[in-house]
Amino acid sequence: MRLIKLLANLGYGSRKEVQKYIRMGVVTDAEGNVLKDDAKTEHADIRFNDRPLDPAHGVVLMLNKPTGYVCSLKDTGKLVYELLPHRFSARKPVLSTVGRLDSDTSGLLLFTDDGDYLHRIISPKNHVAKIYEVTLARPIEGHEAAIFASGDLLLESEKTPLQPAVMEQTGEKTARLTLYEGRYHQVRRMFAAVGNHVEALHRAQMGELTLGDLRPGKWRLLTPEERDGLVRT
Ligand code: URA
Repeated sequence: MRLIKLLANLGYGSRKEVQKYIRMGVVTDAEGNVLKDDAKTEHADIRFNDRPLDPAHGVVLMLNKPTGYVCSLKDTGKLVYELLPHRFSARKPVLSTVGRLDSDTSGLLLFTDDGDYLHRIISPKNHVAKIYEVTLARPIEGHEAAIFASGDLLLESEKTPLQPAVMEQTGEKTARLTLYEGRYHQVRRMFAAVGNHVEALHRAQMGELTLGDLRPGKWRLLTPEERDGLVRT
């Protein structure tokens, strides 16, 4: 692929802008030699402003989403994409969020440009655990874990019951909830169904993947091992 098209697809700018960057000499190989549009350099050896290019197709990154941001490319209010470099919202194919977190929910949010990978993570068939830390308005009564584990809980306006979920009480008004599916506002609706109200919700983990020391509002690329470890084919 020509350099202009490659960089434009990765969101570094419009074709016109990218052409200008190439003329300015900011696109080089690993040794610092300035590249022209017809360069045959391998993706891994191309540098933009001395930095390696973002991975081509199959990129997966994680964001520690703060509350107050919406999982959408176009919406009113603050968007999660504003927390990433602009080029990530201009990539083709587009970088999508892997499922969604509500504006009021914080924590681990993945993005990818790989539609198959995205579907494998969100499909309940693949049993990727999503682990949430929940803070409730009222004390836990003791019957909730059994109801969530039953596989019989039918939420309002749903046709099929929820899959069994695991709830561990961590405090008087706090719990850790492990889900294997992701229905609309699922955690909030589950606790509403047992007469409580979610005051704060944080996704701490997906599969074995945790946020580690990634601070709120920060992002990083997943390593190939993390990427492949999340879903087994
Ligand atoms: N469940 C919810 O209710 N909200 C989220 O953001 C995620 C899971």
